[in-house]
Amino acid sequence: MDKKAAEKKVQELHNLLNQYNYEYHVLDHPSVPDSEYDRLMRELISIEEQYPDLISPESPTQRVGGEILSAFEKVEHRIPMLSLGNAFNEADLYDFDRRVKQVVGDDVEYVCELKIDGLAISLRYENGLFIQGATRGDGTIGEDITSNLKTIRSIPLRLKQEMSIEVRGEAYMPKKSFEALNKAKEENGEEPFANPRNAAAGSLRQLDPRVAASRNLDTFLYAIGDFSETGESTHNDGLNLLENLGFKVNKEREKCANIEEVLQYVQKWVEKRPNLPYEIDGIVIKVNSFEQQRELGFTAKSPRWAIAYKFPAEEVVTKLLDIELSVGRTGVITPTAILDPVRVAGTKVQRASLHNEDLIREKDIKLGDYVVIKKAGDIIPEVVNVLVEKRTGEEQEFLMPTHCPECESELVRLEGEVALRCINPKCPAQIREGLIHFVSRNAMNIDGLGEKVISQLFSHELIHDVADIYRLQQDQLLELERMGEKSVTNLLAAIEKSKTNSLEKLLFGLGIRHVGAKAAKTLAQEFGNMDALAAATREELTAIQDIGEKMADSIVTYFENEDAIQLINKLKNAGLNMDYNGSRPVEAQSISSSLAGKTVVLTGKLVKLTRNEAKEKLEALGANVTGSVSKKTDLVIAGEDAGSKLTKAQELGIEVWDEEKMLEEFNIN
Ligand code: IVH
Repeated sequence: MDKKAAEKKVQELHNLLNQYNYEYHVLDHPSVPDSEYDRLMRELISIEEQYPDLISPESPTQRVGGEILSAFEKVEHRIPMLSLGNAFNEADLYDFDRRVKQVVGDDVEYVCELKIDGLAISLRYENGLFIQGATRGDGTIGEDITSNLKTIRSIPLRLKQEMSIEVRGEAYMPKKSFEALNKAKEENGEEPFANPRNAAAGSLRQLDPRVAASRNLDTFLYAIGDFSETGESTHNDGLNLLENLGFKVNKEREKCANIEEVLQYVQKWVEKRPNLPYEIDGIVIKVNSFEQQRELGFTAKSPRWAIAYKFPAEEVVTKLLDIELSVGRTGVITPTAILDPVRVAGTKVQRASLHNEDLIREKDIKLGDYVVIKKAGDIIPEVVNVLVEKRTGEEQEFLMPTHCPECESELVRLEGEVALRCINPKCPAQIREGLIHFVSRNAMNIDGLGEKVISQLFSHELIHDVADIYRLQQDQLLELERMGEKSVTNLLAAIEKSKTNSLEKLLFGLGIRHVGAKAAKTLAQEFGNMDALAAATREELTAIQDIGEKMADSIVTYFENEDAIQLINKLKNAGLNMDYNGSRPVEAQSISSSLAGKTVVLTGKLVKLTRNEAKEKLEALGANVTGSVSKKTDLVIAGEDAGSKLTKAQELGIEVWDEEKMLEEFNIN
């Protein structure tokens, strides 16, 4: 075959194979036998072997790229991927309806959809071609999992229209594939996945795309990233557009004229849920009109125009075998129920926190009791109640100890508290927990230093306090279990990097009583550096909004303690940053910001700052940064290649600044 004929044939084969793939994986309605598909695929492969330059990224042969990655790249979502507020009962849904109507009036239509229990994905297409797929991540930054997503056959590599669009949906593992995968894992002596969601997430987090390809994942798409770019006026039309572009959209969606119809839809699916071939964990209810969605807008975390109804938690009965005690960072003794292992809402449960002695008395929990277990918010196992009627008389009263299970000093119950505490500041359990807290995500965020490594370092007496972390040497780390040269190098780099953290991370990490992550940020912003905070009086502290008397007392007491001062000096000598790295709050700045109280939208590509940096700085100047342009927007900052948002701002007569002008406001130029 000459090149010209080959080109033509390749095009024909692409079209046919794409069509057959679509019929099979999206419509669930194949028109040709598998053997015919395979024959055409072999033909395409052989032409591509002969003319490798005819292999294009959208070729059906390119679903499994073969290339093994060393890590996933980070992807910044142009429009944040938010989550949804939850409703747990009818009353919550009526409340939602009332809140919606307060803003948009009584004339509102909803769309109900199944809440697929998988993981959120974002897919970007340029001129109809799939160019990037990402996880949700923290909502702002996700991971580039394009090569894994390409292996999912229901994701089109080319759209039915040459369109540039970002779409969102859920990747999931059907129940059947999940069961087969776990069976195979168990036969191989491997740990099975807890539930289809974990299995889907685990598959898409593999660096070798061949693993994802073998896992039979599927998708449902349910949103367009920026609907103002496509011209649809309702969510339902948006879903139909997605379908017409070739995506798999869940068929069970329904328009509901009012909240009563929504409740009927919910009830129907509570009953029909077990018959579905995939897991759902609730129903998502969305306001249909985009105009009304715009009016409703967003809270910091989620849209006001949608809500997720979560199905009631599954409850199961099991036996309470024992009660274990642990000592927390602040010396609190927490009892934990040790249960006869049982599956609840998809995962095996064998422990549940009992919180404190009062709760054990209130629920009248005895050793050997049969108890009802559920997962609060479908995540954290909890003991609901005891089945008193199942008692045999063999059950035993549980008595809280009088002495610390770790250091044996006498436990106390502080006035007004339900918890028993070990108040020995040298208690090893407290020190270990304090170390674990110091390296945790919201504190110093040292990658590779988890609970296990800290526990080992502590028990090997390589670290006694948090400052010792900064003295760790390569050879000491290499002696630990499962620590190769690579992980040691990475860990040392992570420790070094944490030295530059902004003050609030260190402050939170020190674990000063009552100072949470948010208060630490306020303190860091207000005082700017550690010495200024250490010198602050109780009055200066309580004068700050959000800092109460209890916290002020605790901070003053902390800095009066000689050991604490010595520790901070050790950290200073180790080279830790003791300053706040961000900008000071509006009140603290000498210039009064013209952005205070303004609603600002960022669009297009920024050159000097990342979008996140710009957002943070805008917020530090008192602006409220939102995702979409509406009548309520005061200002639009337009970077390069700004598209429909800029047009819309111009239509609405909203003030527009370029990046330079914004930098001037930040005093960066
Ligand atoms: S809409 C602004 N629709 O549920 C958020 N989400 O917290 C828009 N999910 O992370 C989400 N099925 O992964 C939407 N039909 C559906 C969904 C759905 C599952 C997930 C999604 C999101 C979480 C909501």
